[in-house]
Amino acid sequence: MRKKVIAGNWKMNKLPNEAINFIEEIAPKIKNTENEVILCVPYIDLFYSLMAAQGTNIKIGAQNIHFEEKGAYTGEISGSMLKSIGVQYVIVGHSERRQYFAETDEIVNKKIKAALKYELNPIVCVGETKQQREQGLASKVIEEQTKKALEGLDEEDILKVIIAYEPIWAIGTGETATVEDANESIKVIRNQIEQIYGKGVAEKIIIQYGGSVKSTNAKELFNASDIDGGLVGGASLIPEEFANIINAV
Ligand code: PGA
Repeated sequence: MRKKVIAGNWKMNKLPNEAINFIEEIAPKIKNTENEVILCVPYIDLFYSLMAAQGTNIKIGAQNIHFEEKGAYTGEISGSMLKSIGVQYVIVGHSERRQYFAETDEIVNKKIKAALKYELNPIVCVGETKQQREQGLASKVIEEQTKKALEGLDEEDILKVIIAYEPIWAIGTGETATVEDANESIKVIRNQIEQIYGKGVAEKIIIQYGGSVKSTNAKELFNASDIDGGLVGGASLIPEEFANIINAV
């Protein structure tokens, strides 16, 4: 049985004091969950969030990483920097990074390798656009993104990776994929993993759904056979709402 992993992606939201207040408010509400809970916060909130989350079941992640260890990369953060303060997870290849910051599959692959090198667990996002879905290309696109993202990873590495299936048209739009469509697309990804790493790995790897997850649809989504939790944007900014999502299953 795979566990459910529920990760919040705050994007560019919340100041350090807001992050602390959020964690203090939510911690008692989710203390009995068996699900894994992760909050991916802005860089400036990382240290404060790690402090606030001590003694709770909340793990802290970043939203991006540079693939080099150090050097002349103004404005960037390396895996060793994240690791040094106790960060455990990092989102890689979010569609907003791909779209607004020109991240290619090749860069995503390098970032995943950098994360693993510093013992950070990457949450790797893949997903098709509305147009690609309408043209019947969704499966092909996510298969290709998955394959390119994971290129060169061995069997030991792969199980440290979480994949988030995030159809781009469902992100921040209020339009959620149907449970059937989300489950089907995740099966496509799982099959792709099976082809590369075999059935044992495919059955173990955590694959989340992301895109307008809310407390009202979380239970149905997370109970689907292949959906192992969610990557939650907007709804993870509201403590009550995020707690309800975590406690939905
Ligand atoms: P959303 O964002 O839940 O606001 O749709 C999800 C994401 O971007 O990870």
